[in-house]
Amino acid sequence: MFFASEKRYEQMLYKRSGKSGLNLPLLSLGLWHNFGYLDTIYNGKNLLYKAFDLGITHFDLANNYGPPPGSAEENFGKILQSGLGAYRDELVISTKAGYLMWEGPYGNWGSRKHLISSIDQSLKRMKIDYVDIFYHHRPDADTPLEETMGALVDIVKQGKALYLGLSNYKPQQLIEANEILKSYNVPCIIHQPKYSMFERSIEPELLETLDQLGIGCIAFSPLFQGLLTNKYLGGIESGSRASKAHGFLKPEYITEDRLEKVKQLNKIALQRGQSLAQMALKWVMKDARLTSVLIGVSTIEQLNDCAGYISGKDFDNEELEKIEKILNNNPKQN
Ligand SMILES: NC(=O)c1ccc[n+]([C@@H]2O[C@H](COP(=O)([O-])OP(=O)(O)OC[C@H]3O[C@@H](n4cnc5c(N)ncnc54)[C@H](OP(=O)(O)O)[C@@H]3O)[C@@H](O)[C@H]2O)c1
Repeated sequence: MFFASEKRYEQMLYKRSGKSGLNLPLLSLGLWHNFGYLDTIYNGKNLLYKAFDLGITHFDLANNYGPPPGSAEENFGKILQSGLGAYRDELVISTKAGYLMWEGPYGNWGSRKHLISSIDQSLKRMKIDYVDIFYHHRPDADTPLEETMGALVDIVKQGKALYLGLSNYKPQQLIEANEILKSYNVPCIIHQPKYSMFERSIEPELLETLDQLGIGCIAFSPLFQGLLTNKYLGGIESGSRASKAHGFLKPEYITEDRLEKVKQLNKIALQRGQSLAQMALKWVMKDARLTSVLIGVSTIEQLNDCAGYISGKDFDNEELEKIEKILNNNPKQN
C-alpha cells in the first residue's frame, strides 16, 4: 500500500505544455536508467513514491528502457500496482516508440506497424489502459511522414493515448509533422529534445519553432547524465552511470575540459547558495519557452536535491555572463 503525502502539491509548480491544457510539473522524472531488471525494484519504488510526494506528477518512459528493453515499463507497471496506481488520475505517464525494440523489420523506426504494435506492448507491460502522452521517439526518413503521423492520430483516437509528442525532430520536420497532425485536429503538444548547459543545439532555431507552433518543450538529460553535478569532480565512483557497462554516459564524455568547466560552475552555484545540479536545472528553465526539465535519479538524495531547484533565485545578468564565459559554447555566438 502507498499513501501519498497530503502536502504533495504545496511546493511544486506546474506549467501548461505549449498551447495545450495539460499542466506539467517544472520537474519531471524519467526511467531511462535505474528502473530496469538490473536495478532493484525496491529502490525504483521508493524513488517514484518520493517523487510523487514532492509533487512530481509526470513520469517518462519508452518501450526500450531497461536493460533489458521493456523492463522499465514492466517494473513501472508493478510499482503502479503496488499502490501508486491508486493515484492514476493525478499522473501523467508518457512512453515512446521509434528506437530498436524487437527483432525484424517492424521493431524500430516509424511505420504504422511499429507504432501500433509498440503502444499495445507498452500498455500490456505497464498494465494500464492508456498513456497520457505517446511520443514518436525520433524521425524516420524512410517512412512517409503522413504514415507516422496518421498512426499517432489513430492511437489517440483509439483511446490508447490522450496527447501526442515528438522527440528529437528537427525544426523543419516539426513544422511538417505539425501541419499533418493539425489537419486531423490532434495536435502535437510537446517536444522532447536534449538540452543542457553542455548541449545547446536547440537554442538558435528549434525553441523559436516550438514557440511559433504552440508546442511545449521538455528538456531531457538537463544534467548531461550527471556530469553537471558535483558527482564526477572526484573521479568516476563505482555505481555511477559512467561506471556501468550499460550506462549511456561514456567515460570518454568526461573530458578534462568539461571537468574544468564543472569546477568553475560549481563555484558559482555555491555562491548562489545552490548545488550545481540545482543551478543547471534553473539555467535550462530560465527560457520561458521551456515547460519542464526531465531528470533521472538513482537516489532519494538526488531527487530532493533536484527538487530544490524550484525555489532557487533567478539569475542576474552578471551571473549569466560569468556562466556564458565558462561554457564558451553559445550557439548564437560561435
Ligand atoms: N527522448 C529521448 O531520446 C531521450 C534520451 C535520453 C533520455 N530521455 C529521458 O530523459 C530522462 C532523463 O535523462 P537522464 O537520466 O540522462 O537525465 P540527467 O538528469 O541529465 O542525468 C541523470 C543522472 O544524473 C545523476 N544525478 C541526478 N541528480 C543528481 C544530483 N542532484 N546530484 C548528483 N548526481 C545527480 C544521476 O546519476 P547516477 O545514476 O550515476 O547516480 C542520474 O542518474 C530519461 O530518464 C528519459 O526519460 C529521453
